[in-house]
Amino acid sequence: MSYIRFEKINKVFGTNHVLKDIDLEVEQGQLVTLLGPSGCGKSTLLRCLAGLEQVTDGHIYLDGQEITQVIPRRRGIGMVFQQYSLFPNMSVRDNVAYGLKLKKLPRAEISQKVERMLEIVGLSEKIHQYPAQLSGGQQQRVALARAMVTAPKVLLLDEPLSAIDALLRKNLQIEIRRIQQQLGITTIFVTHDQDEAMVMSDMIHLFHDGKIEQSGTPEQIYTHPATRFAATFIGNYNLPRAADFNRVFGGNIPGEDVAVRPEIVILSKRPVQGTETLLAAEGRITGHISHGNLVRFSVDFDSLQMNADVVFENRMDFSDGDRVFAAIKRDLVIGL
Ligand SMILES: Nc1ncnc2c1ncn2[C@@H]1O[C@H](COP(=O)(O)OP(=O)(O)OP(=O)(O)O)[C@@H](O)[C@H]1O
Ligand SMILES: [Mg+2]
Repeated sequence: MSYIRFEKINKVFGTNHVLKDIDLEVEQGQLVTLLGPSGCGKSTLLRCLAGLEQVTDGHIYLDGQEITQVIPRRRGIGMVFQQYSLFPNMSVRDNVAYGLKLKKLPRAEISQKVERMLEIVGLSEKIHQYPAQLSGGQQQRVALARAMVTAPKVLLLDEPLSAIDALLRKNLQIEIRRIQQQLGITTIFVTHDQDEAMVMSDMIHLFHDGKIEQSGTPEQIYTHPATRFAATFIGNYNLPRAADFNRVFGGNIPGEDVAVRPEIVILSKRPVQGTETLLAAEGRITGHISHGNLVRFSVDFDSLQMNADVVFENRMDFSDGDRVFAAIKRDLVIGL
């Protein structure tokens, strides 16, 4: 049986039906991500699990026990929010020790646990500082330490990195994942950033309008989006109408829409012979944008617009206005 189980969860605020029949299971020790656009109900589901919000209908189980009606502090759940919620008048040490003091642990044990946890989050030397003396990323690491030091059964992270700049954010993603795996804490992580979800998760649950649109490993969702919405949210897919795609590339792809990731569109200066397994077409480059280590070219194929990624190294092979030839492996094209 799963460690956490949501069964037919509904949540209504007034006339706003926010969560609609959510069934979701989390295995012990996993990091599971709720991914989805603003307002789709991610935080509400977390708050229901933490007991900060009552479900309108449905049941929640944790570690074999129903907790739907259990008061928050008896659920054994730690939570970290988007904004740092440290106590400003307490040192780093006292912030992290807070939950342990509430549990009335012996002083020596508290000190030992706090020091160990600060070591894990890499902040040992900041132990006597105050929140205002720390950077945003450091504050958020203290918040994580404070949530984890009490060894909660479950850790809930609601966009804990959204206020942090890009580079530090990438480092913290890796760090949180490492600590989570090292301590084996079952974690639910909320984000609306697809890359963050890809880097961190064992499983991703893609939310759309109060329902789960698709669940899978990062790789499954990335390579096999089940719906048009999933393909717009992850993988930067080209999503032409199937009729348009088939007219230009052939291939008889079934369905209404076709999903093609830009990295599987292989550009070449020389004509490519299309076959049953390799679809080919001729087009013209209409623009490009650099994305770090790759360049995304926009190509017009007889009024069908698609993006194609070229590694930065090869970008000089192509310029705006150039005639190009594209090849796509048919078995990588998804009909939706
Ligand atoms: N306490 C509340 N009272 C009334 N409506 C609420 C309350 N909390 C959330 N909502 C509504 O529920 C819906 C879902 O909100 P929620 O915060 O769960 O979204 P979210 O997916 O976390 O979005 P974001 O990515 O912006 O944080 C929204 O329409 C919101 O206005
Ligand atoms: Mg939210």
